[in-house]
Amino acid sequence: MYTIATVLCALLHAVWTVQYGSDKCARVSGTNVLCKIRTLDGDGSSITSVNSDTSILSVECNHLLLFESSLRAHYFSSVEFLSELSITNCKLLHIPDYTFQDVNKLKRLKIRSKNSEWSPTKNMEISLNAFNGLSELHSLDLAQNNIKFIPSGVFCALENLNILNLTNNRIRTVGQIGFGRGCGLGMHTLDLSYNEIKTLPEETELLKLRSLQHLYLQHNNISDISSEAFNGLTSLRVLNISHNRLHTLPEGLFSNAKELREIYLNENSLFELARGIFHHLEQLIVLDLSSNQLTSNHIDDGTFKGLIRLIVLNLSNNALTRIDGKTFKDLFFLQILNLKNNSVGYIEDNAFLPLYNLHTLNLAENRLHTIDENLFNGLFVLSKLTLNNNLLVNIDRKAFKNCSDLKELDLSSNQLMEIPDALWELPFLKTLDLGENQISDFRNGSFKNLNQLTGLRLIDNQIGNLSVGMFWDLPSLQVLNIAKNKIQSIERGTFSRNGQLEAIRLDGNFLSDINGVFATLASLLWLNLSENHLVWFDYAFVPSNLKWLDVHGNFIEHLGNYYKLQDEIHIKTLDVSHNRIVDIGPMAIL
Ligand SMILES: *[C@@H]1O[C@H](CO)[C@@H](O)[C@H](O)[C@H]1NC(C)=O
Ligand SMILES: *[C@@H]1O[C@H](CO)[C@@H](O)[C@H](O)[C@H]1NC(C)=O
Ligand SMILES: *[C@@H]1O[C@H](CO)[C@@H](O)[C@H](O)[C@H]1NC(C)=O
Ligand SMILES: *[C@@H]1O[C@H](CO)[C@@H](O)[C@H](O)[C@H]1NC(C)=O
Ligand SMILES: *[C@@H]1O[C@H](CO)[C@@H](O)[C@H](O)[C@H]1NC(C)=O
Ligand SMILES: *[C@@H]1O[C@H](CO)[C@@H](O)[C@H](O)[C@H]1NC(C)=O
Ligand SMILES: *[C@@H]1O[C@H](CO)[C@@H](O)[C@H](O)[C@H]1NC(C)=O
Ligand SMILES: *[C@@H]1O[C@H](CO)[C@@H](O)[C@H](O)[C@H]1NC(C)=O
Ligand SMILES: *[C@@H]1O[C@H](CO)[C@@H](O)[C@H](O)[C@H]1NC(C)=O
Repeated sequence: MYTIATVLCALLHAVWTVQYGSDKCARVSGTNVLCKIRTLDGDGSSITSVNSDTSILSVECNHLLLFESSLRAHYFSSVEFLSELSITNCKLLHIPDYTFQDVNKLKRLKIRSKNSEWSPTKNMEISLNAFNGLSELHSLDLAQNNIKFIPSGVFCALENLNILNLTNNRIRTVGQIGFGRGCGLGMHTLDLSYNEIKTLPEETELLKLRSLQHLYLQHNNISDISSEAFNGLTSLRVLNISHNRLHTLPEGLFSNAKELREIYLNENSLFELARGIFHHLEQLIVLDLSSNQLTSNHIDDGTFKGLIRLIVLNLSNNALTRIDGKTFKDLFFLQILNLKNNSVGYIEDNAFLPLYNLHTLNLAENRLHTIDENLFNGLFVLSKLTLNNNLLVNIDRKAFKNCSDLKELDLSSNQLMEIPDALWELPFLKTLDLGENQISDFRNGSFKNLNQLTGLRLIDNQIGNLSVGMFWDLPSLQVLNIAKNKIQSIERGTFSRNGQLEAIRLDGNFLSDINGVFATLASLLWLNLSENHLVWFDYAFVPSNLKWLDVHGNFIEHLGNYYKLQDEIHIKTLDVSHNRIVDIGPMAIL
């Protein structure tokens, strides 16, 4: 019986002779550090031989040892029964003709030499007949081999190839990617990402891949695309051409690719889109145009025309300044619209009106000053709205009338002076972020109707003393962050209707006394009172279930335990540093 060890030793000949002289296969046992053999479907342990029942073989060289390994014709004749073979980390500079001639049942082959870790100039060369015999192979993974050039037609022997992974090589042109004239007709996935491709010209071997559904070209150096580049790809569904250097897309680029479902064009330098570039892509579901340089002059009512099935549109990190009323008029199915980090200062009324399936709208990091009555018209199922880091001073009282389903609202880092009355229309709101505004006006009724709200963030505003009634509309509140405000006192009973509260941040205020404020909050686990002006503290001030208490940075002189509470207190983490504690009595530390 042949042992796999024979294959291994021969394969790693160079390594072997250097390290172990002629004592070859005998050493392949147990915990050989140079190379491991293992069955991929097994437990991963090293073995010395494989019988013909095991049809999966994985050979892994030690990646720290940079010696050349080599293959030759009919190399795998001893393991002709294999259906899967993977060779990783073995430095291979050449795949000679007929290497795999005898393993004709092989379905999956993976060779990853990581040659570039050895030296950027150590390229892998592939002979024209290298893959002869592999007529049943359907998946070939040649990632990370430092391949620069692929002979035309080298993959033609692979009559059943579906998936070819050439990611992380140094391929510069798609003129020749191994398919020659008219082979590769069964290919459905081609990964050419992380190569050095600069252009996608008119005549390439890509054009012949009529069954191709997934084409990955991200992280190349593509700056030019011919309008005919994808002409033959009539089955294409997913195109990823993100992280390239595209400035513009030529007219008609997608005119034959009507099956497209997902297009990723993010992280390019697009400032212009040919008119009608996406027309007729009626199957398109995802369009990612984020991180480009698109301006409002190049996005108009024709840009997204006819994208009747689009679900995700990503326009974040561009340079849009306004949104016209008809821009999104056909996008009835849109669910996610990301406009974050543009310079949008103006949105025409009813621009979102057709988006009656939209559930997530991100308008953060723009230049909006006001939200008027009609801006969000039509967004009946909107559930998440993000408006942080704008210039908002005013929100119309009726602004949310038509999106009363909202669950999450972020209005942080704006210039609001008061808690907007518009919130009264949002009875299903769960989380509300009003942090980093200028809010000083805060009254009874500010949160009218928000009886589902569980999280409220008001950090870094101008809020003054808290009194009974202010939080009474929030019976479900669990987390309250009102740190960094101007609070000097909290009236007893302020939280008497907030029995669900679990965490409160009040740090960075001017509180001197908290007696009676929290004692009734039976669910409270977590309380931050640091950086205040507390002078006296007694364990009786905090509820007995509290686990985490931070009172550092106050003026406390004595940790009181007047009632000698011992068993009732459950605090696990306590920070009392930076106070004026003069003595620590026997009851002070629990
Ligand atoms: C190609 O291989 C890379 C590296 O392992 C992997 O991340 C990528 O998903 C593969 N491509 C395809 C299409 O499977
Ligand atoms: C990408 O192209 C630019 C010029 O267009 C060139 O400076 C750069 O070296 C190229 N990068 C690679 C990895 O080929
Ligand atoms: C497209 O490429 C980007 C890298 O630019 C990657 O993060 C993303 O996962 C890819 N998406 C798909 C669907 O291939
Ligand atoms: C949109 O693009 C941004 C930036 O590239 C990314 O962070 C975000 O995950 C993308 N997707 C969606 C659905 O917003
Ligand atoms: C905002 O988008 C621009 C590109 O338009 C980008 O340069 C910048 O890094 C982005 N900012 C953030 C915070 O992502
Ligand atoms: C909300 O939707 C209704 C139709 O349901 C519409 O008549 C109204 O103008 C919209 N806007 C406001 C602010 O109510
Ligand atoms: C706020 O409500 C509380 C409780 O109903 C009431 O005692 C208090 O007078 C109210 N304050 C104002 C300013 O209306
Ligand atoms: C806030 O409370 C402090 C301490 O009780 C008090 O001196 C101050 O006048 C109050 N401020 C206002 C605006 O009511
Ligand atoms: C507690 O408050 C201090 C002072 O503001 C802050 O630095 C710290 O991050 C807060 N702790 C937590 C866990 O929020």
